[in-house]
Amino acid sequence: MFEKGQSTPEEYPGNCEPEALLEGRSLIVVSNRGPASFSRDEDGTVKIQRGGGGLVTALLGLAKSVDISWIAAAIGDLEKEWGWGEVEIGENGRTIDLHLIPIDEDIYNGYYNVISNPLLWFIQHSMWDFVSGPNINRDTWKAWDQGYAEANRKFAQTVAQHIKAAPGRSLVMLQDYHLYLLPRMLRRLMRRTRRSRKVTLTHFVHIPWPGSEELRILPSRMRKEILDGLCAVDLLGFQTREDVLNFLQSVESHLPGTSVNYKHRRVWYRNHATIVCNFPISIDVPAIKEMAGSPETQQQRTQFEEMIKGQQLILRVDRTDPSKNIVRGFQSFGEMLELHPEHHGKVKFIALLVPSRLDVDEYHDYHNKIMAAAGWVNSQFGTSEWEPIRVMIGENYPGAVAALQLYDVLLVNSIADGMNLVAKEGPVVNQRDGVLVLSERTGASEQLESGALVISPCDIYATAEALHQALTMSDEERKIRANRLRWLVEENDIVDWFCKQIKEIGKFGY
Ligand code: G6P
Repeated sequence: MFEKGQSTPEEYPGNCEPEALLEGRSLIVVSNRGPASFSRDEDGTVKIQRGGGGLVTALLGLAKSVDISWIAAAIGDLEKEWGWGEVEIGENGRTIDLHLIPIDEDIYNGYYNVISNPLLWFIQHSMWDFVSGPNINRDTWKAWDQGYAEANRKFAQTVAQHIKAAPGRSLVMLQDYHLYLLPRMLRRLMRRTRRSRKVTLTHFVHIPWPGSEELRILPSRMRKEILDGLCAVDLLGFQTREDVLNFLQSVESHLPGTSVNYKHRRVWYRNHATIVCNFPISIDVPAIKEMAGSPETQQQRTQFEEMIKGQQLILRVDRTDPSKNIVRGFQSFGEMLELHPEHHGKVKFIALLVPSRLDVDEYHDYHNKIMAAAGWVNSQFGTSEWEPIRVMIGENYPGAVAALQLYDVLLVNSIADGMNLVAKEGPVVNQRDGVLVLSERTGASEQLESGALVISPCDIYATAEALHQALTMSDEERKIRANRLRWLVEENDIVDWFCKQIKEIGKFGY
């Protein structure tokens, strides 16, 4: 039986050269959000920038080494106008063949704002308070059938076109919880075409997979359709060993007709084998180092230094997502100030927050709670000379990298998190031997716990004490921990994540 703690997948010997490993296969990446964000300048010209979010951050690193066709949803009007074409992202002149699928607003709303977020996201991050939610009513079912399934169908049709147009074999890498139904739909579309044998299908789930009991919150038809969809892929990837185990148990409990082999991490279903493995995602280490040295980042760094004025810095960088546990983070800081008044006036907590999913009620409400929690701490402890917490809202990647260089303590206290890439970005660029205070419910803690101060995310008191411990830690211990974290991240960057998947596929002859 595959157990927690056992190392998997096996170590992969040999070089990691994505282009060579692909052996001429076309690479098609499919995700809900594309790698570029489109906006219009004051003078009316369309500006295309690198998009945000963990998935895009990770996968863009890959685009530097291999040619990628990327299929995503056209979210705004500018994206709908874009359609299909080459887009240059980053400074190295490499382009991505980007195909944005127009999806009707009603369909997209059901797919993204009702089913993906909050229903699936909340279940997979253990965030429902079951006494009050989720309430699965007629509208939810409509959103499932006419939103989520319909959007997945549109994606499947577009992917099928790309596979048919590709000159040889294709590797299709599907991403995340928006697209659980796509694999089965695609297999059906490809059935009886000559191309069907020339496609390898992978799906990587970036967020935690819940225990099989928790999955029971979803009605039987929904959970069966999800599991049936995922069992149509050749290789199914998760962030952690625990996610893999949870998935295998979910299939065994909820999908009749499957045969699960825990030792070899394999599911047999409808005469097809799916390999299930953990591939902890990572960051593009050279790219973030380059960004750290850029003039833009350096300029923003000076502004942060002026803001800190010689105080110690506690930093967090997050989307405004309830799973990030931002409110408890502020409460913990308040608790620390109460327990350890020696820090008054000597430490500043900066929270760089990117607004997220504000059309979903739970996110909108959370945004207000964040501001209230920060305001409460400032009103309790602040003085005319000292503002304990500064909340800065907006998307500013160079600014985030600048602040990451300066922290004494980086707080990542998520309620649950597939990986959390900020916990990996911070140690690579930080220049103060900063301490990472890390939730044990992040995927990152499976890799980084030996260098971090690990906390339980609901334990406000323990988090307060961890913040104090981090602020008062000896220089020697800080250095040892910071070096360990940096080494752990640099050893496993995003290219390894990709190569490990391709090598796993190769082992099984796909
Ligand atoms: C998480 C998910 C990613 C997603 C990101 C942003 O990191 O795992 O798949 O890209 O959140 O989410 P959004 O809803 O803004 O696309």
